[in-house]
Amino acid sequence: IKRIGVLTSGGDAPGMNAAIRAIVRTCSYHEIECMGIFRGFQGLLDGDFEVLGPRDVNYIINKGGTILKTARCKDFRNPEGRKLAYNNLKSAEIDALIVIGGDGSFTGAMVLSKEFDIPVMGIPGTIDNDIHGTSHTIGFDTALNTVVDAVDKIRDTASSHKRLFFVEVMGRDAGHIALNAGIGAGAEEILIPEENMGLERLLDSLKKSKKSGKSSSIVLVAEGERIGKNVFELGEYVEENLPEYEVRVSVLGHMQRGGAPSCFDRVLASRLSVKAVESLLEGKSNFMVGLLNDQVALTPLEQAVKGHSPIDKELLRVSDIITI
Ligand code: F6P
Repeated sequence: IKRIGVLTSGGDAPGMNAAIRAIVRTCSYHEIECMGIFRGFQGLLDGDFEVLGPRDVNYIINKGGTILKTARCKDFRNPEGRKLAYNNLKSAEIDALIVIGGDGSFTGAMVLSKEFDIPVMGIPGTIDNDIHGTSHTIGFDTALNTVVDAVDKIRDTASSHKRLFFVEVMGRDAGHIALNAGIGAGAEEILIPEENMGLERLLDSLKKSKKSGKSSSIVLVAEGERIGKNVFELGEYVEENLPEYEVRVSVLGHMQRGGAPSCFDRVLASRLSVKAVESLLEGKSNFMVGLLNDQVALTPLEQAVKGHSPIDKELLRVSDIITI
């Protein structure tokens, strides 16, 4: 392997730049070249490439977003698109590919590698933390800190007005952000798709918390929650059924994807990236580099894309106990 291509794909996540920086510099350390591919798989189709040296990635470890840009690319889903991508890789003399992204991006990498025998490695980059084979994805920790910070601020106004707030957070169809940030921010209830709480239980719990002397409350709602109502309908439903509560709704949205990556995400991105380059140089392919029991570990891409990582049920119990 003389030249490795790297791209970021799907939703961006804080720490992707730290990963790009580490990949570029690990390539340089091992005296091979790194080619940056812009706008994810779309850039692969368009031949939008640029050689990156160690000084091209100065001052990016602390930056959110991705200097390589990202996109969700439809054309890559058809064989003609992938053939074009492969031809572009060959003419740019790229011998192997690292894809930083989520499970959709890994599926794209896997298919390309199967069809054209090009070595690929995946690095999990998504705020959702929904990938099998890693305890943490790059960006998750930063997003948690962002959510906790936002909820702390919402709590100030909630307690001043004695209000109940429903705060919706991202996570696609996983509840990791809601569950972890909910505990960190001291939310009274956490609604996640993995655990259907039911509307009756929610009302009971809110009644109890009023009785116990709480004057304001925060309920964290994962965007993928399947309680049958969106967060605004949920707010209205609770206000109708529990008139003692004055309800407000806040949807945090894309702010959760931005900002400077936390130290944890920078270190994680650096560790996974060094391993990704070195694994390719050792002749490995079709793996995702993740973190398991605080050790960098390889999981076959095929397994990584199969289903989401489960939530930690113990966290639900902890949350129930400490919000009494
Ligand atoms: O996968 C990351 C994520 O931010 C999800 O939490 C969210 O559902 C989705 O991307 C939003 O995607 P988009 O930025 O395309 O609206």
